[in-house]
Amino acid sequence: MNPTATAFEFSLAGQKLTGHSGILELMDDLGRAMTVDSDMRMLGGGNPATVPGMQTLVRGRMRELLDDGETFERMMLNYDPPQGNPRFIRALAELLQREYGWDIGPQNIAVTSGGQSGLFYLFNLLAGRFAGGRSKKILLPLAPEYIGYADQGIEPDLFLACRPDIEWLPDGGGNIFKYRIDFAAVEKALARGDVGAIVASRPTNPSGNVLTDAEVARLSALAAGRNIPLILDNAYGTPFPGVMFVPAKPFLAPHVILVLSLSKLGLPGTRTGIVIAPEPIAKAISSLTAIVGLANSNIGQQLVLPWIESGKILELGPKILRPFYEEKGRVATSWARECFNAAGVDWALHANEGAFFHWLWLKNLRITSRELYERLKVRKVLTVPGEYFFFGLEHDWPHRHECLRLNFSRDTETVREGYRIIAEEVAKASK
Ligand SMILES: Cc1ncc(COP(=O)(O)O)c(C=O)c1O
Repeated sequence: MNPTATAFEFSLAGQKLTGHSGILELMDDLGRAMTVDSDMRMLGGGNPATVPGMQTLVRGRMRELLDDGETFERMMLNYDPPQGNPRFIRALAELLQREYGWDIGPQNIAVTSGGQSGLFYLFNLLAGRFAGGRSKKILLPLAPEYIGYADQGIEPDLFLACRPDIEWLPDGGGNIFKYRIDFAAVEKALARGDVGAIVASRPTNPSGNVLTDAEVARLSALAAGRNIPLILDNAYGTPFPGVMFVPAKPFLAPHVILVLSLSKLGLPGTRTGIVIAPEPIAKAISSLTAIVGLANSNIGQQLVLPWIESGKILELGPKILRPFYEEKGRVATSWARECFNAAGVDWALHANEGAFFHWLWLKNLRITSRELYERLKVRKVLTVPGEYFFFGLEHDWPHRHECLRLNFSRDTETVREGYRIIAEEVAKASK
């Protein structure tokens, strides 16, 4: 049989989830460029850096597991319950109760295969088509938002996004801005009556924005007023991994769902996400895990278990990760200033409040950021064009075509050379 001659029909859901989206194409392109070209300067992906202090801890812990025959065998030979490892879940609930006084227990926690799967389950539980022909959306109160959400809806057009206000920071020399939630826009979107949940990443991928405590409290009140959940995606944030450079309090309320992950701690290969939610939602996530994959990988949970039991996991951000990434960001900002000023381009960066990206805004660009991405690829610099982070907006916005996301956590030489080349290409492509 010639498999290419057989066109099997996919279901509507199958077509939606496998159809060619711009993002999939872009990810493919990024992956291919990296594998065929070892000279490529990778400022594009979302991988965490090799943080020396963290690697030592992980290796040490892995050795401990290998030497502890009983735990190692259990870890490798047993399926965990779909909810996750009971000891891990109990320890996490106790830690969060102890540290933050949160009224939660093991019944409020479900482990997933990365935060990504957890978000997929949540979005499709809370939005899409409902009984009686109703349909609901996921509201992004602040676009740009994480590219990885964009294609997660089983139903099309799952997202509704709001443009933010842009504030110039007084000590940024005219080059540093911060997005702020436009609450009038959020309230207008909620008034449609078809929002099933609000979601925001904190810190935000791509901009490195950290929603202030006041913004989170206000979003929470709006969600409570509509009787819908607020999902806070803390992939980079608090309580861990804590890659944040401004103060921000961990937040939980009875209608708030937190998505945590071990990835940005330096363990993306273990695929460990954690959903903290009202009991019926945590239960639903466990059911979905059982159906989709029986159980999750338990390696990440076992690796960090003693750090959860002792509370050490909360120190890794402030003591190891934050200093590392904050310094990378500071140095990269000084190169941006140097390179872009020297090239005479009109540039701005979002305030780097967390995560490990620069969000570069080029106001006088004559071409789209997708075209700029192509030109930079020819010059062996890989970036992520901004267009893809603005899904869910009802109207086009020129800003959408003027931004690039740069991962500044690579080695010094790669980042410095990358920024120099970007400045050269931007100068050629500016009005
Ligand atoms: C904002 C945000 N949320 C969620 C994820 C998913 O991460 P993981 O599935 O590795 O936990 C990422 C990954 O880059 C992210 O940037």
